[in-house]
Amino acid sequence: MARIGIFGAGYVGLVTGACFADLGHEVVVRDILPERIARLQAGEVPIYEPGLEQVMERNRDRIAFTLDVAEAVDGAEFLYVAVGTPPTESGDADLSAVWSVIDELPQDVPGRPVVVMKSTVPVGTGDHVRRRLDDRGLTNIGYVSNPEFLAEGSAVRDFMNPDRIVIGAFEEADGDRVLGLHSGIDAEVLRTDVASAELVKLAANAFLSTRISFINEIANVCELVGADVTDVARGVGLDHRLGPHFLRAGIGFGGSCFPKDVSALKQLAGNSGYPFMLLQAVWEVNELQKKRVVQKLQKHLGPLRGKTVALLGLAFKPNTDDMREAPSRVIAYRLLAEGAEVHAWDPVAHPDDLKGIDLCDTVLDAVRGADAAVIVTEWPELRELASAEVREAMARPLIVDGRNLLDPAATRAAGFQYEGIGRPRHASPAEPPARPSEVAR
Ligand code: UGA
Repeated sequence: MARIGIFGAGYVGLVTGACFADLGHEVVVRDILPERIARLQAGEVPIYEPGLEQVMERNRDRIAFTLDVAEAVDGAEFLYVAVGTPPTESGDADLSAVWSVIDELPQDVPGRPVVVMKSTVPVGTGDHVRRRLDDRGLTNIGYVSNPEFLAEGSAVRDFMNPDRIVIGAFEEADGDRVLGLHSGIDAEVLRTDVASAELVKLAANAFLSTRISFINEIANVCELVGADVTDVARGVGLDHRLGPHFLRAGIGFGGSCFPKDVSALKQLAGNSGYPFMLLQAVWEVNELQKKRVVQKLQKHLGPLRGKTVALLGLAFKPNTDDMREAPSRVIAYRLLAEGAEVHAWDPVAHPDDLKGIDLCDTVLDAVRGADAAVIVTEWPELRELASAEVREAMARPLIVDGRNLLDPAATRAAGFQYEGIGRPRHASPAEPPARPSEVAR
C-alpha cells in the first residue's frame, strides 16, 4: 500500500483521498484553508456528496488533514494535485493554485515521488510543470497526467467504477506505478502521452456540453414545429452509435466543469491559432437557453414587474449543494431585473450571495402567493409538485418545468398550466394574466 499526499480538499481532492484510503492507501490531504482543514480534522465533511461521509468515516485511521506542505510530502510516493483551476476573465484556466503547489514542493524530496495531475488543466501544462521541476533540479520527481471524470452527486461511485482510467506519462515506469494505485478498480485503461491525456479530459467535457446544447437547440426547434423533444431525444438515443446520455433538454448546463472546460478548450484552440467555432456556438446556445425561461414566464404573465416567481432548485444539478455557474443565478438576476419578486427553495444549496431573493425553507413557502413556479433543478422531491396543496397556495397555478421533470398531462389534470422545454403539444395556451380579484383566496 502506498502513501499519498493530496493537494486540495475540494470535491476532487476529498473524493480521491477518501477512495484511495478505502483501497487501503495512507492518505494526507493538504489545503490552504484553515477553516476547511479544522472541520475535516473534527470529522466533518464540508461538502455535500452522497456516500462521501461514510467512506471518510470508515477510513478515519488512514486519512489525515493538514495545512502543512511538509506533512503531505513526507514519505509520500505520490503527490496528487487536485486544486481548482477556475476560468479567468479571458476564458483561460487560472493555474495559480497549481503553480503554488509545484513551487511549494520542498527542495530535498528523497526517492522518486510522482506528481499526479488530477486538476483539469490546459494541454501543455505537464510540459510546463516538468520544466519548472527540472529548473529547480527536482529531476527525481516524476509527472503523470491522470484526469478525473467523476461527476458531482455520484462522485464516489464514479471513482470506484470509472468508465476508464487515463494515464499520460513522460516515463512509462511512473505511469505503471500510478496505475498500480488503482488495483481493486475494474476499468478500461488508456495509456498515452501527457498532452493526449490532458486533451481527453477537455474533449470529453466539451463533447458532453455539445450534446446538451445540441438537444437544447432541437428543443427550441420542437417548440416551433410542434414536436416533443423528450420523444425526439429518445428516438435519437436509441441509435447505439449515439446512445441516450446527455440528451436531456433543459435550461442549460452549469457547474464548475462544463462552462469552464468549454471555455478553456475554445481558448486553448484560439491561442494555438485555431478558432473552435463549434464550441463558440455551444457556449452561446447555453447562455440563451437560461434566458428562455424568462420569455416563457412573460408569455403567460405578461410583464414581470410586480409578479412573484418561485425558483425551485438552485444547485446546478440535483444531489449537490454546488452553486458554481448554476443557471439559477442567471435566471434569478434576470427576473429581478425585470422587476419580479423572487422566492427560492433548494433542499441543500443555501447560498448567501444571491442578493435580493427570498430563500424559503419549504417548497410550499416558496410557492405561496407565487404567479409561477419554475423547476430549475430536477430534485426528486419536485416530482410531487403538482399537488392540490401547491395549487391552492399559488396565486396562479403556472408551472414552468425547466427540466421536463413532470408529466405534462398529469400536471394539467391536477389543475396547473404547464410549460416545459421543447414540448409544445403539452404546453398550456397563454391566458391573459389573472386580475387580483380572481386570485384572492
Ligand atoms: C462533469 C462530467 O459529467 C464529469 O465526467 C467530469 O469529471 C466533471 O464534469 C469534471 O470535469 O469534473 P458535473 O459537472 O459534476 O460532471 O455534472 P454533470 O452531471 O455532467 O452535469 C453538468 C451540467 O449539465 C448540469 O448543469 C446538468 O444539469 C446539465 N445536463 C446534463 C443537462 O442539461 N442535460 C443533460 O442531459 C445532462
